Amino acid sequence: MKGIVFTEFLEMIEDKYGYIVVDQLLTESNLPSGGTYTAIGTYDHSEMVTLVSNLSQKAQIPVSELLRAYGRYMFVTFTRSYRPFVDYSHSAFDLLKSIQHYIHVEVKKLYPDAELPHFTVEQPSDNQLHMYYESERKLSDFAHGLIEGCLAHFGEKAIIRKTNLVDDGSRVFFEIVKE
Ligand code: HEM
Repeated sequence: MKGIVFTEFLEMIEDKYGYIVVDQLLTESNLPSGGTYTAIGTYDHSEMVTLVSNLSQKAQIPVSELLRAYGRYMFVTFTRSYRPFVDYSHSAFDLLKSIQHYIHVEVKKLYPDAELPHFTVEQPSDNQLHMYYESERKLSDFAHGLIEGCLAHFGEKAIIRKTNLVDDGSRVFFEIVKE
């Protein structure tokens, strides 16, 4: 998993709870990397699972809510660090339709070792979008937050329904209906 995912996560915690909590979390988590992440480095995905579940216990917030909040936060980061990928689209649906064949393709060119999910997207009507998420990393709550962040960026409102297609969360269906 790319370092940017870790550095931004720790930044979000620092914004919300202060650096002391970040410091405690890193110390208590016993991470193989030692918790010193650089944005372009690559680290084991299990370290993110450890950090999120330890913070969940500490802050008494469910893992799913933390990942979703993190997705919303991360989209704002993307609008700064990867502006051209965001400006390529003129609406939330345009951007969500471009992840699989454009954004994540470019991400893979920049970071060949990036581990990305697979999306299949269908648009049954102007105000409806169907997204099928597939990933062994089971980060659909993070995807949920990114979708919310994307809608907020374009000033659009929609209802998002999320359904697990398999129990372990590796295949998930999102139905997005614009208001
Ligand atoms: C400008 C927009 C975007 C950029 C630059 C971007 C880039 C990235 C990067 C760098 C990673 C980390 C890869 C790794 O750790 O190896 C990632 C992962 C991910 N991205 Fe995107 N992304 C964008 C938009 C989105 C959106 C809108 C969604 C959701 C619908 C999304 C869904 C995900 C998910 C769920 C992951 C976690 C990995 C997994 O589930 O397997 N991305 N993306």
